[in-house]
Amino acid sequence: MRIAVIGTGYVGLVAGACFSDTGNQVTCVDIDEKKVARLKKGDPIIYEPGLDSLMTRNIREKRLMFTTDIKSAVKDNEVLFIAVGTPPEEDGSADLSYVIQVAKDIGNNINGYKVVVNKSTVPVGTADLVRETISREIQLRNVSFEFDVISNPEFLKEGSALDDFSKPDRVVLGGSSEKALSIMSELYAPYIRTNNRIHLMDNRSAEVTKYAANAILATKISFMNEMSGLCEKVGADIDFVRTAIGADSRIGNKFLFPGVGYGGSCFPKDVKAIVKTGKDNGLSMDLLNAVEEVNKKQKKILAQKVINYFALKGIPLKGARIAVWGLSFKPKTDDMRAAPSLDVIEVLLSKGCIIDAFDPVAMDNAKRILGNRIGYHDNAYDVLKNAEALIIHTEWNEFRTPDFDRVASLMKRKVIFDGRNLYESNKMKEKGFVYFSIGRPSDEQ
Ligand SMILES: NC(=O)c1ccc[n+]([C@@H]2O[C@H](COP(=O)([O-])OP(=O)(O)OC[C@H]3O[C@@H](n4cnc5c(N)ncnc54)[C@H](O)[C@@H]3O)[C@@H](O)[C@H]2O)c1
Repeated sequence: MRIAVIGTGYVGLVAGACFSDTGNQVTCVDIDEKKVARLKKGDPIIYEPGLDSLMTRNIREKRLMFTTDIKSAVKDNEVLFIAVGTPPEEDGSADLSYVIQVAKDIGNNINGYKVVVNKSTVPVGTADLVRETISREIQLRNVSFEFDVISNPEFLKEGSALDDFSKPDRVVLGGSSEKALSIMSELYAPYIRTNNRIHLMDNRSAEVTKYAANAILATKISFMNEMSGLCEKVGADIDFVRTAIGADSRIGNKFLFPGVGYGGSCFPKDVKAIVKTGKDNGLSMDLLNAVEEVNKKQKKILAQKVINYFALKGIPLKGARIAVWGLSFKPKTDDMRAAPSLDVIEVLLSKGCIIDAFDPVAMDNAKRILGNRIGYHDNAYDVLKNAEALIIHTEWNEFRTPDFDRVASLMKRKVIFDGRNLYESNKMKEKGFVYFSIGRPSDEQ
């Protein structure tokens, strides 16, 4: 099949590379010339495990191409994926200007039947908007061409995106055209060979499905974080609670880990967007408003723990050196969008702390946001020199079993604030550390 993927970010690039790997002819389009120049050379730009070799192989086989030329991409391909960003506006609604621009470009250049696929996360009604926009452009040209709009939200997770795309839990296809749905089903057939995981529905249900999925995942996170706060207050251990409630098959044991709150490019903006959709339709989304409020507090929880402990011990925060392990919002990605580490660092900087950070892949992106207000180091141990405390934001594998003797010898004070519950509290005590984690008892809490 000949496919164009318009918008070559985390989703578009992964989708384009994966579709090319099953033999399709894929053209990835982006407006960012510098990005396209690097992509053409096989540089994925973003960090996503396995993506560079997948790209290299398919570029070499001439199945994967990159261009800024949207006109040719529309004309030469039958299936056109829209995978541009839908960032949040001030009022929480999704900014659809990029999606609409692509729809206009399609209408301006359409030259035959096309399946236009919304892969971006878009509010309910966007498929209709895209359809109207394309039709209007076609009318202005005084021509007539057929096209269908399919809603095909993406559920991949950064860090395991290739696997998620190639072995999806489900493929959601929203639309009413049998022709378009059958083309889409054929395109996805190689990824769902074991059993048919395609969910066919109307456009609006597909659009809501994506937001509902992210909203329930965000709700699970906020729920567990709220329970963790309670556990800390009453001397209970969230790990026991988590495993015991997870044993109930109605609840399930996945996605129940407490932490530093959700971040990234999806949950925060998608929760805000669905709340706004509710509001626009006269519905107050009380549960999701609460999910957001809990998350706002949780994203600062480590900073609060640091402040409380330093106050208790009479250690001045001003001038205190704080080491940070992990900056990205989760492991195996360099994505810093809405990362909780940023909230914690901002609070501590405002108190006069000196921050030294290490992240295996996200430091370039962090530098773009934080500049030289913090120090960046080449490895996890360098940040610890003379540190009054270590904060762990991201559960990168290399932080799971560090050389604690080395950690202790480098730090000024053996105090760890662990936002991911990487270590066992009693073992940390044995090693002489003052150890704070999330939702578990601590002698110093
Ligand atoms: N990142 C994720 O994990 C993820 C997962 C599922 C769904 N989504 C959704 O997918 C969409 C894309 O997300 P992303 O993280 O890949 O975004 P991104 O910001 O990484 O990439 C968007 C790309 O679109 C390009 N672009 C903007 N306007 C364009 C135009 N007119 N023509 C061509 N290219 C254009 C930008 O230059 C950029 O490279 C969003 O709606 C997001 O919510 C993201």
